[in-house]
Parts: sequence; structure tokens; C-alpha cells
Amino acid sequence: MVGINKIYNLGIIGYGGMAGNHNRQLSQGNVRVRIKGVYDIDGERMQVAKEQGYIAYESKEALLSDPEIDIVLVATTNDSHKSLAIEALRAGKHVICEKPVTMSSEELVEIMDVAKECGRVFTVDQNRRFNRDFINVWRTIDSGVIGKPYVIESRVEGSRGMPEGWRTTKALGGGMMYDWGVHLIDQVMYMTKEKVTNIFCKMYYINYSEVEDNFRLTMTFESGLTAHIEISTNNFITHPRFYVLGTEGTMVVTDWDGTGKVVKKLCDDNTWGTEIKTVKAGPTKTMAPRDPSTVEVIELTEPKDVRDNLDPVYEQLVDAIEGKELLIKPEETLRVMKVMEAAFESAAKGIAINTEI
Ligand SMILES: NC(=O)c1ccc[n+]([C@@H]2O[C@H](COP(=O)([O-])OP(=O)(O)OC[C@H]3O[C@@H](n4cnc5c(N)ncnc54)[C@H](O)[C@@H]3O)[C@@H](O)[C@H]2O)c1
Repeated sequence: MVGINKIYNLGIIGYGGMAGNHNRQLSQGNVRVRIKGVYDIDGERMQVAKEQGYIAYESKEALLSDPEIDIVLVATTNDSHKSLAIEALRAGKHVICEKPVTMSSEELVEIMDVAKECGRVFTVDQNRRFNRDFINVWRTIDSGVIGKPYVIESRVEGSRGMPEGWRTTKALGGGMMYDWGVHLIDQVMYMTKEKVTNIFCKMYYINYSEVEDNFRLTMTFESGLTAHIEISTNNFITHPRFYVLGTEGTMVVTDWDGTGKVVKKLCDDNTWGTEIKTVKAGPTKTMAPRDPSTVEVIELTEPKDVRDNLDPVYEQLVDAIEGKELLIKPEETLRVMKVMEAAFESAAKGIAINTEI
């Protein structure tokens, strides 16, 4: 019975690292979803589930035919998301799928059609929408303090390469575009709500030949705003997490915790005079440092009201099952898939792609 206190039973297909994270979060009991059982092709993962007190279903079909399972989490390698999500929907389950939702936009459209046909809710774990670094950037832009933003730079950088296994195998959906790019693209598209009109991407294969381990993507939006998204796994000196240029100021968010600063223009500093200033590298007029009294520095502190865990992801799913609008809509992830496809095309051809996404 769907009611205000209903607890929904979750069945998990693919009980690896990320499913373990879902388990840790759901075990805290903050949302009305409880894990009932799991299915994994790996016997060791089934043993782990049993030890945690869950049913280890002998087959995927056994999990899907359990009438007590309301929701299925698909947390397998990316190549199998489409078929598993469709099977679960056809079995009458609501579905939450790990990112990247599928390996192509066509695959996602197939899932969306089946979800509609079966009258079930389908959503994607785009959990990074709720992260404090991103929320601080969004709130600061929204406050108007930096004026109109015209460049958003968003980066995630590591130096330890990629874990061996499916993440380095193309056929299984490996590579950094699907792994991290999907999050950063989703964040910026969720925030701006604008159409993407142009995409240019350069991909690098530094330590792996099969899939990209670094990429640099430039997305241009309808208003002229550009987003530069960079993922690197071979970067020993990191940039700030976010760097945003606005007409009235500049924002930097240095790390995952959302801390950083805004430097805001108070008044113009155009007292050029006739003298050229000399810096260590030589004379300059345009690039000479400005008078500090013409700007204000505003510290950005860690937002304390943010829940950057999986609770909001499950809450919006439960709400949608109970009739409210989904927050993480498949139509939005479809746009992200299309951007990633254009990025792959751009990288393969070495050209910028005009789009209307
Ligand atoms: N949202 C996030 O922040 C986030 C973070 C990490 C991973 N992920 C996503 O979660 C998914 C899993 O990643 P992971 O890091 O947990 O990988 P993983 O390799 O640790 O786990 C995948 C599990 O799926 C199982 N599996 C594979 N195919 C299966 C099938 N057909 N049926 C049943 N079980 C199957 C494997 O045996 C393994 O236990 C990927 O889609 C990944 O992109 C999301």
C-alpha cells in the first residue's frame, strides 16, 4: 500500500563498490527505503550481502519476481544498465540506475519508453547534484555577487590513474567521460538550464590505450556562457575545483568542501596615467595589479545545510512513486548523454560540433 509511512523494499543488482555505498547510506535509516536483497554474478559479493543480513537471490529472475521488492537499483558495469533496467521495469519495479545511465542516448530512450509503458518511475543516481562544492557555486552565482557569469571552469583531478578492470575497458563503459564527466556535465546543465549550442572536446590516452583517462571539454550555451570541464587522472598539481568569471567578480571554490572566495569589483580601476608599470616580466599597462581598495574579498565557507549523500536521491524517488515530480528526470540525463556523444564525436574528428541540446 502506498501511504505516508510506507517503507519501500529495495533489490540491488550488482553489489560492488558503489552498491556498498548505497548500503552504508540506507543503513542509516534516513529515507523510507530498505535493502531486502541483492543479486551479483560474483559469489563473493553475494556472500558479503548474506553476512550483512540481506537475501542473496540465486538469480536476477528470483530478485525480480519477488513481489515484496518495490524498487530495483541497477549498480552493475555500465554496459548492462539498459537491459537490466528494462527487465526490472517490465517486472513491475520502479528503477534507480547508476550513472552513466546507459552507453548511448538511444538506449536511454528505450528505457524511458518502457518506463512509460509500464507506468513505473525511472531515475538515475546523479548524486553529485547535491554536493556542497557545487551547491556553493550555484548559490553564489544565484546571489548575483559576481554579476553575470560568462565562464565556469569545473575540474576533478587525480594523479593515480584509473582502477584496472571495467573502468579501463571500452566495451564495459570505461573511461573518464562516463565515470566523472557525466557528473560535471550534469551539474552545469542542471544549474544553467540553457541549451548547449557548441561542443569541443580533446581526449587524452596517457596511461591507457583503450579509453580516455583525461579530457578537456568546452561547452557553449545559448547565452554565450561557456563551461570548461576537465577530468584528469595524471595531474600532480591540481587546479581549484571551480573557477567562475562573472562581469562583476571572480569566484574560486578550491576543494570538495565548498570553501573558497569571491573577489568582487567595487569600482573601476582605470587610473592608467601615462606611466607603464614594470613587473618582474617587464613593462605592462593592461595587466598591472589593480588597487586593492577597488575590490572586496568575500570568503566562501563550507555550507552546513547540505546533505551531499544519497538521501536526496532516494527521497525524490519515493516522492515520485507517491505522485510528485521527479527531481532527477530521465529527460535531463538524456541531454547529458547527447552532450557526451557530441564530445566523443568532437574528439574523434578533431572539430567543434554545433548542437541544439
Ligand atoms: N554515483 C556515483 O557517484 C558512482 C560512484 C561510483 C560508481 N558509480 C557507478 O556504479 C556502477 C558500479 O560501479 P562500481 O564502482 O560499484 O563497480 P564494481 O566493479 O565495484 O561493482 C560492479 C558489480 O556489478 C557486478 N555485476 C556486473 N555485471 C553484472 C550483472 N550482469 N548482473 C549482476 N551483477 C553484475 C559485478 O560482479 C560487481 O560486483 C557503475 O555504473 C558506476 O559508474 C557511481
